[in-house]
Amino acid sequence: MSMAVIAVTRERRAGETRVAATPETVKKLIAAGFSVTVEAGAGTAASYVDSEYQAAGATLANDLKGALATADILFKVRAPADDEIAALKTGAIVVALLNPHQDRATLDALAARGATAFAMEFVPRITRAQVMDALSSQANLAGYRAVIEGAEAYGKAMPMMMTAAGTVAAAKVFVMGVGVAGLQAIATARRLGAVVTATDVRPATKEQVESLGAKFLAVEDEEFKNAQTAGGYAKEMSQEYQAKQAELVASHIAKQDIVITTALIPGRPAPRLVSAAHVASMKPGSVIVDLAVEQGGNVEGVKLGEVAETANGVKILGRPNLPGRIAADASALYARNLLAFSGLLLNKEGQLAPDFEDEILKAALVTQGGKVVHPQLAS
Ligand code: NAI
Repeated sequence: MSMAVIAVTRERRAGETRVAATPETVKKLIAAGFSVTVEAGAGTAASYVDSEYQAAGATLANDLKGALATADILFKVRAPADDEIAALKTGAIVVALLNPHQDRATLDALAARGATAFAMEFVPRITRAQVMDALSSQANLAGYRAVIEGAEAYGKAMPMMMTAAGTVAAAKVFVMGVGVAGLQAIATARRLGAVVTATDVRPATKEQVESLGAKFLAVEDEEFKNAQTAGGYAKEMSQEYQAKQAELVASHIAKQDIVITTALIPGRPAPRLVSAAHVASMKPGSVIVDLAVEQGGNVEGVKLGEVAETANGVKILGRPNLPGRIAADASALYARNLLAFSGLLLNKEGQLAPDFEDEILKAALVTQGGKVVHPQLAS
């Protein structure tokens, strides 16, 4: 048997700047026994140029057909586009952030093409798979970037400054949803000198928030005590809880300068945490960054891809794909996630032979043998 070929193509979704392999990971993939083909220009938007890929040992393909003709495996950031799916070899393996709960059409197309597709979102959060955890690697950078975007849109300083002309007050930053993105947002806002408060529905977050030097604020009732699932995620909260939460937010948010929302519930629309009335209570010049905008948003009035400015002068940032706004680092981390994942596709002899009984592959597998096979997606 010959060496398994991995193809890395240019991302085709509008605004996607990341790339699924870097010169560093290409070198390591080759050392692991793969051969790698990179479509010309695939890394340009993330500041990785063709000559670096070639120097790392990749074969450069001038177009998509050339890149995919011999590929056993396609590595992508986002789900492949129609032209990519059409150019896949029958039975090829696809590994990407497939957005499986929201993009059924692509899963059906991959199944129809006979592809064996793995969704990086479904890699389980077990210790052995931490190095492949793309949700975390990307959320971490998104949390950082959200603070940078918020600070940029905010017309005042973040840290307190004492000058001869008087004192500049520290910004008050409120982080809603303290998963991976929220924790990094807290840390980043603290480094910039802001006074930070944060909220979540999972009790475990209280200590994490406090250990970062921020103040925790939440409705800590019986439901809160049980809001974390066995998988570590948040449950969807009851109407009663949501009402109490809204009241707590109302008394706090009016005093905040920058609000960063990151709350998600896997497979469900994002919970609505900030109402129009909350926004209306905020001071002119305040900024809200809604990281959940692609899942419907945490904030009433957020617009995907836009900066919405309210009548009272509050800006609501609905920028999608914040990791894509820090593309070089986001690509580097994601590419390492895929590098680690690639190890599951080879047997001890270095031949392409995925062990479909492996816990991680089993959890991430979404299409196989012409069907959408993931239990959460069975229709
Ligand atoms: P996520 O992206 O699903 O959600 C973000 C945050 O929003 C979560 O903290 C969630 O509790 C919060 N949230 C949901 N509904 C809310 C509401 N109504 N009000 C306020 N906050 C709300 O979460 P993420 O970042 O994926 O982390 C989920 C869990 O996974 C955490 O427990 C995290 O520590 C854990 N984790 C474990 C890893 C591992 O063991 N390998 C790696 C990464 C994360």
